[in-house]
Amino acid sequence: MNDIVLTGDRPTGPLHLGHYFGSLANRVRLQDAYPMYVLIADYQVITDRDLPGEIQRNITDLLLDYLAVGLDPAKVTIFQHSAIPELNQLLLPFLSLVSVAELRRNPTVKDEIAHSSQQAVSGLMFTYPVHQAADILFCKGTLVPVGKDQLPHVEVTRLVARRFNERYGEVFPLPEAMMGERPLLRGLDGGKMSKSRGNAIALSATDDETAALIRKARTDSDRLITFDETRRPGVANLLTLAGLCLGRSPEDLAEEIGYGGAAALKGLATEAVNEFLRPIRKRRAEHTEADVRQLLSEGNERAREQAIITLDEVRAAMGF
Ligand code: TRP
Repeated sequence: MNDIVLTGDRPTGPLHLGHYFGSLANRVRLQDAYPMYVLIADYQVITDRDLPGEIQRNITDLLLDYLAVGLDPAKVTIFQHSAIPELNQLLLPFLSLVSVAELRRNPTVKDEIAHSSQQAVSGLMFTYPVHQAADILFCKGTLVPVGKDQLPHVEVTRLVARRFNERYGEVFPLPEAMMGERPLLRGLDGGKMSKSRGNAIALSATDDETAALIRKARTDSDRLITFDETRRPGVANLLTLAGLCLGRSPEDLAEEIGYGGAAALKGLATEAVNEFLRPIRKRRAEHTEADVRQLLSEGNERAREQAIITLDEVRAAMGF
């Protein structure tokens, strides 16, 4: 089978090293092997907040992050929800294929509701996974590289595809989630790495910002550096981070640091991250806001052509 890869991000803030090692590095590899779509999921921003916020700024930054890490717009179609009416229109028939009980059961949605600061849960919070099925199926995506939290959404997509095909005839492939073997990279305070928690190193961070964040990282006072994820999570996390940046094992780095203590560890991690980010920063600086916007509009055009074809097929299958 000829696979098609689709994945995406919500434009809610700059991407960080957790995103890089968790998914961006994998995308850069995949773009050489498959036709690939990367979605800037702008309509998904308003699932867990009332307003889209600095949406244009965030979209531009996301595009710059993509290009900086090496996504190549000649190979990858980068596009956004709000520019593709035909993709969004797939939501209506797709919603008819799932029950309210199924929507309520989605564990990722439940988790997002639990962590949301909104007064009321919107209808979109329950239905966006079906919209996500439209994201994946409009281009007949078959491989969806995502993190564990997205697995329920890929399941919804398979359910929608299967039921559509049963009711109206074979139109959609059943996509598969693709999970990398990602080492867990925590934030510098030991929690989940997340921009909003101020514990993440953005791909756009400067040398000084990186140094300041690592300086504040939680460690301990044992001079002998060892890699022990349960007893020394802060130390282990810095070793993991440095190891990923250097392409070396955290155990090996621990041995090298030996009795250098937290100061030596932080020095080494800062050096490693800054060295790693250097070419990314350089590539980012090669692009202007105007040219990334132009690339997005070209991607939108290509994605839209595909969405028009799929929507026509859907209407014909349904007899509309
Ligand atoms: N929900 C994803 C996230 O929060 C973003 C996303 C939207 C996505 N549509 C998608 C991911 C389709 C994979 C496929 O990160």
